[in-house]
Amino acid sequence: MTSNTTQQDAAVADKAILAEHAYADERHLAARQSIYRWQQPRYDLPAIVAEELAAVTGTVVDVGCGNGTFLNHLRTHRPDLHLVGLDLSAGILTHLPPPVLVADAQTLPLADHSVDAVLALHMLYHVSDIPATITELARVLRPGGLLIASTNGDTDKHELDQLWSTAAGHILGLLEGPTRVSLSSRFSLEKAPGYLAEAFTGIRVRHLPGTITLTDPAPITAHLASYEAWAHLSDVPFHQTIHHATDLATTAIETQGAFTITCHGGILTCHTPGTTPPAQAR
Ligand SMILES: C[S@@+](CC[C@H](N)C(=O)[O-])C[C@H]1O[C@@H](n2cnc3c(N)ncnc32)[C@H](O)[C@@H]1O
Repeated sequence: MTSNTTQQDAAVADKAILAEHAYADERHLAARQSIYRWQQPRYDLPAIVAEELAAVTGTVVDVGCGNGTFLNHLRTHRPDLHLVGLDLSAGILTHLPPPVLVADAQTLPLADHSVDAVLALHMLYHVSDIPATITELARVLRPGGLLIASTNGDTDKHELDQLWSTAAGHILGLLEGPTRVSLSSRFSLEKAPGYLAEAFTGIRVRHLPGTITLTDPAPITAHLASYEAWAHLSDVPFHQTIHHATDLATTAIETQGAFTITCHGGILTCHTPGTTPPAQAR
């Protein structure tokens, strides 16, 4: 993982960039999700989240639900739950069945202690005030309520970061070009427990390491292109860099048989302090 400049960090959490560009529809998110098809071992993330929710009844809110990967799975496998999707972007919610809300995780339109579990999956690195958002998630959860968060580790997909810097360097005539924007570094797997500990107890981190092996550069091209919303911060012509990175990846595949990417994702679970029975039992 590369480390961002202050300007890049601000842009990763810029609501206009997120809602109107990066997640205006599901195109870029889907490109990043689809690269995991080539990962070993494969993790069924929606099934893992459903497993973590096994003891939960009542209302579950998916904050930053995106294109509904997790909601769709839960609607099928946990029809007993009252599921609510919420996202900053109206566009990405277009194809999701109700109830879905367009709202900011930093000011949830939900009553205190009204929710049994909250999902915040690969989204807390996008909020500008991470501690305040974590306090907000705790506010809407009942005492003893469950939060499931997910993010990536500091070294996740570092081969793609290196590929970008090398390609950018060639274009600019430098030994090493500028690094690409990092999305998850603001709330990485390493930083997340410290943030969550301010409002939650019993934090567990489940590491999900893996290796993506590609014999076709197309998923790399699509992954790099999915950062288009932040292209203006790349200090190098964006599309030209992607084109050159694709050429470099193609050469690596031809000479080494494959382009491999090391992944380090993870899921965190924790609870609000106190215990009360789940909403349905009250
Ligand atoms: C990387 S996607 C993750 C989507 C989904 N949770 C998943 O894991 O597949 C991040 C999502 O969070 C949403 N998001 C970003 N900032 C947000 C905020 N302040 N409030 C609500 N949603 C936000 C984005 O619009 C986007 O849909």
